[in-house]
Amino acid sequence: MSSNNESIGKTLTVVVALCLVCAIIVSFASVQLRPLQQANKNKDIQSNILAAAGIDKVSNVSETFNAKIEARVVNMSSGEFVETDPTIFDFEKSKFDAALSVSLKEQGVTDIAGIQRVTKESPVYISKKADGSTDAIILPIQGYGLWGLMYGFLALESDGQTIKNIIFYKHGETPGLGGEIQNPQWTAKWQDKELPIDVVKSGASNEHQIDGLSGATLTSNGVDNTVDFWTGEHGFGPFLAKVRKGALK
Ligand SMILES: Cc1cc2nc3c(=O)[nH]c(=O)nc-3n(C[C@H](O)[C@H](O)[C@H](O)COP(=O)(O)O)c2cc1C
Repeated sequence: MSSNNESIGKTLTVVVALCLVCAIIVSFASVQLRPLQQANKNKDIQSNILAAAGIDKVSNVSETFNAKIEARVVNMSSGEFVETDPTIFDFEKSKFDAALSVSLKEQGVTDIAGIQRVTKESPVYISKKADGSTDAIILPIQGYGLWGLMYGFLALESDGQTIKNIIFYKHGETPGLGGEIQNPQWTAKWQDKELPIDVVKSGASNEHQIDGLSGATLTSNGVDNTVDFWTGEHGFGPFLAKVRKGALK
């Protein structure tokens, strides 16, 4: 015998009401958590910049970042600092904004890093020694490996020429193969090398050469092209030319 509570109308009302309540809870949580997610994203980027500067395992990331790192924005074609606020710079959004970026293809530039567009301005990070002089210049870099874009930071000495560190914090390369770009044993090989860099298959024999990852030649080539692009004339080249003349000593 069926009671009134088992009618189809009532069942549907309960289902619809439940869906509505769940939808409201999920939307509310999503909106409420957005600032927290953004703050965590910023903190993550800051800790990667600190790691690139050789400042690891800090307890208070934001405090250390603010004390040790000066964030600036440079105009990519002139290499000059501009007054854009680095804290609001969003590379991903700017890259697809026609007013804020340029297409490499339209400029007739060979897109060796596979990034299609570059922003007209980019943040750079300068880590300071205790006496206020420059310890490292940290450049955001990105480029295609085998499976997708690899995101990292290249840290240079104040001469704008000698490599202090390279780190990749986001990529889609295969763990154990291309994913070894994150292995400190490999990134240590970059230390004290000089630009321009050539990632060779094996047998690196001078200060410009680095042994590629075995079993991951395609990823290694991607890293090579990424570094070449960002340190070249269509990347941070104009900025680095000023650094090499002593702009940040
Ligand atoms: C499942 C799978 C995943 C792979 N992942 C990568 C990778 O992340 N990076 C890479 O360069 N090669 C990767 N390879 C290997 C490439 O296909 C290619 O063989 C390799 O880059 C050649 O490098 P080698 O000359 O050092 O052996 C992968 C191969 C397979 C089958």
